Amino acid sequence: MTLSASERALILSLWPKIAPQVNDLGGEALDRLFLSFPLTKTYFPHLDLSQGSADIKNYGGKVMNALGNAANHLDHLDASLSTLSDLLPHKLRVDPGNFERLNQVIQNVLAIHLPKEFSAETQAAWNKFFSEVSTVLTSK
Ligand code: HEM
Repeated sequence: MTLSASERALILSLWPKIAPQVNDLGGEALDRLFLSFPLTKTYFPHLDLSQGSADIKNYGGKVMNALGNAANHLDHLDASLSTLSDLLPHKLRVDPGNFERLNQVIQNVLAIHLPKEFSAETQAAWNKFFSEVSTVLTSK
């Protein structure tokens, strides 16, 4: 499943809006992840998981920045995600189903905060993009 040129353009056009607020958007997505899917909290015993905490925003920012980096290297996803694809599934044993849960909550946050930019077409493109990233991250 590869993204078409127009889908790539939609994903890239989101980034100038996401970049200035990665910690807030990513943090809110994680708050939603932990509330809706409490078992996902078990991966982060070392962090303060109270809603809106600095730890949550910090990790949320890391996730969004990694996605932004991937969006800018769509032809080289394997290489650009290589370090993470070693870390996430092996060292942390993250269940692949959690990637879909994370995708869901990030989409909710983008739809709320960027209602104009996150159109139905952009959401469909995002879904493909996230699924490509997840495939790479869980492929090793
Ligand atoms: C597209 C999906 C994801 C991306 C882009 C992503 C990105 C990242 C990044 C950039 C780091 C930091 C790596 C480092 O510091 O070297 C990280 C660490 C981590 N990730 Fe993810 N992640 C994703 C999905 C998940 C999921 C679904 C879970 C579990 C529910 C998870 C759990 C963790 C944990 C526990 C750490 C270590 C955090 C720490 O010790 O501070 N990740 N991830």
